Amino acid sequence: MEHTNKIALVTGGSRGLGKDMALRLAEKGHDVIITYQSRKDAADAVIADLEAKGAKAIALQLDMAQFHSLDEFVSRLTATLQEKWGHARFDFLVNNAGMGATIPFEQVTEADFDHFLNVHFKSVYFLTQKLLPLLQDGGRIINISSGSTRICVPGYSVYASMKGAIETLTQYLAKDLGSRGITVNVVAPGPIETDFNNAAIRSNPERKAMMAKTIALGRVGNAEDIGGIIAFLCSQDSGWITGQRIEASGGLFL
Ligand SMILES: NC(=O)c1ccc[n+]([C@@H]2O[C@H](COP(=O)([O-])OP(=O)(O)OC[C@H]3O[C@@H](n4cnc5c(N)ncnc54)[C@H](OP(=O)(O)O)[C@@H]3O)[C@@H](O)[C@H]2O)c1
Repeated sequence: MEHTNKIALVTGGSRGLGKDMALRLAEKGHDVIITYQSRKDAADAVIADLEAKGAKAIALQLDMAQFHSLDEFVSRLTATLQEKWGHARFDFLVNNAGMGATIPFEQVTEADFDHFLNVHFKSVYFLTQKLLPLLQDGGRIINISSGSTRICVPGYSVYASMKGAIETLTQYLAKDLGSRGITVNVVAPGPIETDFNNAAIRSNPERKAMMAKTIALGRVGNAEDIGGIIAFLCSQDSGWITGQRIEASGGLFL
């Protein structure tokens, strides 16, 4: 694969969807910076896989729950770009990092609310703002939402509300950044079998089988169903798509 000299930043690239996104971007010839929250071991293994594909790659720690750590992250990223690539900019921002929990509406505490707010919306909003000077003109921003903004999932009121906010933000960013040639889209995966929400799908075969019946293609998704879509959205071929919500759910509740 020919090297493109383009760099993607994938938050939450140590496992699950983010890992597959990073691998598929590397297969297209891009270099990749991934972030992890606490699983440095998993992130290091992804870096080895990325390097085996010929990409320059590095993992940086980032906790989206620690809103006040974002400036320090941006400084580390800036230094990393200079040290490893010899310039100040990167090309693709994939806001993927996140966690899930099933909490009935009546039981959501202010602490739960603030945690989801920080990780899934506030830190995504301001990290993107802080990274704009580092993002190349003509670049890409891809946010990750969820099928749960369209279909109500029990216990997902707080999670899905933040994802809904990200979908609205996507449209505004697409409008604002069009003058720089930056496209901004949001990908909304349906149920995907990862470690997400305490591996809610993998650890519950009955629930998994029930979900499969609600999906046109007859199964829940795997991380490998999503990474290629991100790689496509980072390609020249997708350059005329912006401000869109692209659901990747195998046809959930059609
Ligand atoms: N799986 C699904 O069914 C599904 C469906 C729709 C949307 N999504 C969305 O897809 C994204 C990825 O989910 P996934 O299924 O890949 O989950 P996952 O397998 O649990 O991986 C989560 C990733 O995010 C990182 N992360 C978790 N909390 C973080 C925090 N506070 N700050 C920074 N990074 C953090 C993790 O880092 P460590 O490895 O260090 O813990 C890991 O890299 C999330 O935004 C999720 O909402 C998932």
